[in-house]
Amino acid sequence: MRARVLKVSNAFDHARAALRKARSVAVLTGAGVSAESGIPTFRSTGGYWRNFRFEDLATPEGFARDPKLVWEFYEARRRDMSLAKPNAGHQALVEIERRVETFTLITQNIDGLHTLAGSKNVICLHGDIWKIRCIRCSYSRTDREPLADLPPYCKCGAMLRPAVVWFGEQLPEGAIEAATRAVLAADVFIVAGTSAQVYPAAGLIPLAVRQGAKVIEINPEATDFSEDVSWSLRGPSAEILPSLL
Ligand code: OAD
Repeated sequence: MRARVLKVSNAFDHARAALRKARSVAVLTGAGVSAESGIPTFRSTGGYWRNFRFEDLATPEGFARDPKLVWEFYEARRRDMSLAKPNAGHQALVEIERRVETFTLITQNIDGLHTLAGSKNVICLHGDIWKIRCIRCSYSRTDREPLADLPPYCKCGAMLRPAVVWFGEQLPEGAIEAATRAVLAADVFIVAGTSAQVYPAAGLIPLAVRQGAKVIEINPEATDFSEDVSWSLRGPSAEILPSLL
């Protein structure tokens, strides 16, 4: 028991020391980072995909079948997310960006909370829930207001959709390439609040391990990569990220 406690506290000390020495830091975040801002995750207890079928709500086929249902899901999330505020984990990442020479924050989250907290160099791998785009023409807009009629339509007559990435769709142009470059250049790679089940985002973790970065995982639960990373720190990101500063 004693040895285990020592090992855990060493992991914190080593991770903190590696982060303090780092010149180039990349971070991958997932839904867990926003959990303490009151936004449900996807796969943990109470997560969306525990109660709903992602095939119905987060695929182009689901949208084609029932656009109103999909829009109702996203509109409810937009309403919840509009009330959410960045938490201490988001803030700690802003501080890390301020301290290091090169910093890239790669997020799977669509809630915009990293940018709201003040993070600058953010790659939104899965899009942005505050953007809406036409499924036919090039029209898009940023819109945080509640939408009166669902589904909304474009002036061109086609339907509008949330500018998020659904399963089976391409990531935004250049996003994974920029994320890969950041991971390859990183001395330290922090992976926080993701179950690491969804690719290509999850593939950045073994990439970081292979290129020799120190990889710090932050999650209350173990993931498939916990054994491979340099330090797997168990706990909520709103507590652990500030403690690494
Ligand atoms: P998941 O819901 O799959 O995983 C959330 C992770 O956060 C889990 O491993 C939890 O253990 C962890 N977690 C829970 N509370 C936490 C806390 N307070 N602090 C830190 N970690 C915590 O969410 P993602 O990995 O982000 O994509 O899911 C990836 C993608 O799958 C999402 O972007 C979304 C989803 O389907 C699309 O919709 C395309």
